[in-house]
Amino acid sequence: MNSYLVAEALHIISFTAWMAGMFYLPRLYVYHSEVAPGSEADQIFQVMERRLLRIIINPAMIGTFVFGGWLVYLTEAYKQGWWHAKMALVVFGMGGVHGMLSKYRKDFAKGQNRKSAKFYRILNEVPTLLFIPIVFLAVLKPF
Ligand code: HEM
Repeated sequence: MNSYLVAEALHIISFTAWMAGMFYLPRLYVYHSEVAPGSEADQIFQVMERRLLRIIINPAMIGTFVFGGWLVYLTEAYKQGWWHAKMALVVFGMGGVHGMLSKYRKDFAKGQNRKSAKFYRILNEVPTLLFIPIVFLAVLKPF
């Protein structure tokens, strides 16, 4: 068994699931911010958001780091500049957005959302703007 290829395949599967959730959750917040707290629609959005975060996004993020860490061990990527730049975008960028999305889910659950649909539309673009340089750094390894 080629452990490098297994680690890379599991890494690609994990970050794909993580990104799918990061692209979808803020979109749910756009529509959720336009319904009345306590309404039936509000309850349905709360269930969808809680399940998306707990069943897909959080486990997929953990998988991305576990299998990414395995790749770091196998390739000694910690010695390379591209990986440092990638980790800055992943940890502070993608991790930061992940933290914000978790907080906003709790605000919706408490009926205390303060952000507008326009705010969530803009936030919805941020994971994509981070994903592009992360992938180019990982594939091209430019420095
Ligand atoms: C949003 C998060 C992430 C995305 C989108 C991502 C994406 C990628 C991509 C596209 C590759 C290249 C695969 C290939 O060449 O076929 C890769 C490789 C790699 N990733 Fe990630 N990654 C993420 C997070 C991480 C994390 C958190 C770590 C470490 C803890 C990590 C460590 C690595 C390593 C070491 C490689 C290089 C493997 C090699 O030398 O071919 N990645 N990643």
